[in-house]
Amino acid sequence: MRSFLGRDILTLKDFSREEYFRIFEVANDLRHHARDRRNGDLLKDKTLLTAFYQPSTRTRLSTEAAMHRLGGHVLGFSDAKMTRAGDFYQESLKDTFRMLESYADVIAIRHFTEGAPAEAAKWSSVPIINCGDGWGQHPTQVLTDLYTILLERGTLDGLTYLLVGDMRMRTMHSILHALGQFDAEAIVVSPPDMSLEPAFKAELDAMSVAYREAESVPDVIGEADIIYMEPVVQADYTQSRVERGGEVGLTPPAYQVTAELMRTKAKRSSIILHSLPRMDELTLDVDETRHQRYWVEAANGVVLRMALLALVLGAAE
Ligand code: CP
Repeated sequence: MRSFLGRDILTLKDFSREEYFRIFEVANDLRHHARDRRNGDLLKDKTLLTAFYQPSTRTRLSTEAAMHRLGGHVLGFSDAKMTRAGDFYQESLKDTFRMLESYADVIAIRHFTEGAPAEAAKWSSVPIINCGDGWGQHPTQVLTDLYTILLERGTLDGLTYLLVGDMRMRTMHSILHALGQFDAEAIVVSPPDMSLEPAFKAELDAMSVAYREAESVPDVIGEADIIYMEPVVQADYTQSRVERGGEVGLTPPAYQVTAELMRTKAKRSSIILHSLPRMDELTLDVDETRHQRYWVEAANGVVLRMALLALVLGAAE
């Protein structure tokens, strides 16, 4: 297994099965800090910088919370408009990250351009953590999701994963990459104009990821152990910021999960994950069902990111 020390976390495409379980093992070791709400001092000599060029609630704050939980220091920006990258100068990633690497020991970046974290990593000698790049990848979210499934179901193998939503979405790319390392089948449901891109399908085939496409959630939800959702009423992830202007569309029932659908068609043991934020694809009445796990998923984001920070900074081997 490759060492995590000093490593950039850009994609899950090259992660081995052992590497997933090593991260989850460290997460279990550190989990008590979040559970007991007691900060430790494992990273007291280290500093995290968060460089967020796109809005975020969960990813930035849970990464920062993870660093605080381990006694580390945090600085950064959550709106690039307040930096020289977002004003008249449009400062490049190269110039920005050549400096930022001097200001911290690890940098977490979210960007509206696919590949921006990899570009930043070229100019930074400290580890870069991809916290979402355009439509590209969202590795820390999917590590959180897999960790949640492992805690809830005791295994990542032998499960059928129903993926619902916009398949151009970065979480969908990262989870499909990850499933190649497990004995898992994915059923993919999306509107036709949001389906898996041919080039990405070729990538999945090359990685021996088992997946098939279906037209409608009600047709296949009864097969699912894990229901993994994203909106189909979506923002454009290539933009630095998308404001809501007027009315938004409604999610067709083919891509929606409701409490009634769960009661009548889903396995009683199935669980629902959603990286959030949601629109109307996941109705509020699902929150009261035995199936919802998205709040614990969001909470686990702190735990998983503690593990990643400890590993890339060498506080855990
Ligand atoms: N899950 C997720 O990426 O949420 P945020 O956009 O709030 O970070």
